[in-house]
Amino acid sequence: MQLTDQEKRILQGEEGEAKRLALEILQKVGEPLGAERFIEVASVQAMAHFGSLHIAGRDWLEKLAQLGGCCCVPTTQDPASIPFGQWEEMGYDAEYAQNQMRLAEAILKLGEMPKWSCTPYYQGSIPRVGQNVAWAESSAVSFANSVLGARTNRTPAGLAICAALTGKMPCYGLYLKENRRAQIKVCVECELTDLDYNTLGILLGKRAGAKIPAIYGIPGSATNDNLKYLGASAASSGSVALYHIDGVTPEALLQDPFGGRAPEEEFSVTRELLDEEAQRLTTEGVGDIQLAVVGCPHYSSEEAIRLSKIIEGRKVAEDKAFWIFTTLETDSLLERMGIKAKLTQAGIRIMAQTCLVISPLVGGYQNLITDSGKFASYLPSEHGIKIKYASTEACAEAVMK
Ligand code: F3S
Repeated sequence: MQLTDQEKRILQGEEGEAKRLALEILQKVGEPLGAERFIEVASVQAMAHFGSLHIAGRDWLEKLAQLGGCCCVPTTQDPASIPFGQWEEMGYDAEYAQNQMRLAEAILKLGEMPKWSCTPYYQGSIPRVGQNVAWAESSAVSFANSVLGARTNRTPAGLAICAALTGKMPCYGLYLKENRRAQIKVCVECELTDLDYNTLGILLGKRAGAKIPAIYGIPGSATNDNLKYLGASAASSGSVALYHIDGVTPEALLQDPFGGRAPEEEFSVTRELLDEEAQRLTTEGVGDIQLAVVGCPHYSSEEAIRLSKIIEGRKVAEDKAFWIFTTLETDSLLERMGIKAKLTQAGIRIMAQTCLVISPLVGGYQNLITDSGKFASYLPSEHGIKIKYASTEACAEAVMK
């Protein structure tokens, strides 16, 4: 790789050992990937949840902090593996929680902003069109690339912290304009409900794998939440890191997403196809629903407000539960709006800064319902439970009286 004078100085240790180590790792990964140089990144979405990092990841972040490592670009991180403030009462294992809290201390020493969310774009981390970032978390990567028009690969957790300490990434993959062209054409031939955006994402992931789809037939009225679910689902059933939507997403607004080439493949999405896929997401033999879970990716304020209207006048049944996963910022806004009181008085638990996929499932629940394609994809194998996949209204209906 061609190095600038500053990069050479970093590799000689002139800006500290943590930064030297981080850049050396990025260089060693970048060279076999064919990167010819480093690029500057404007922000980093890292990871610090014990459920994925384990002891080795905890020790690595603590070591970087001991070596004086410090983020030189705004750095956020995925949800934590425990609900801070609720884990004891809910029965999480104390040693597990302790490890998560050590990670929380380490990221503060490293200068990360403790947002603990997979939706950093709802918390002020909003890169511009064409801006390079280094984001981990497949759903956030999809949103950054597709909806915001920023540029990032699916950054592995180990490299994200190196990008945070150096502000650099090797230039490869989706940082290069020529690698962002669509390859598959997808024509949506029916109207879409909120749930359908999840199901469409699951279909896309299965058909596209890691290729880039361009979708036609999605209205400009699609909300950011709709696109959040579409991308998260496509990144969970496949590894789609970027999609284009004709007339909607930035890179498809002003130019042909195929860059003048013919699509490699083309398929249509019909009502029948969506309904069949939705049925497949429900586990065979799912029993009486005990727990409803929403907020994957993290629930937006708008979604929580909408839910408060759906559940108006109802309460969660005594033998059931309803959990919302969201950001601390949304939690605070809901509190100030009086919405949090409405939800909690109805028996709904709001869990900020955590996520059910990357944390243990406490409470012994076996049969869950969700309106999230990504939760439906991951929860059965993560926790050995059965899942029903249905609309938000159906989630409320299943656990409320
Ligand atoms: Fe976010 Fe967890 Fe879903 S990190 S996207 S809530 S699996």
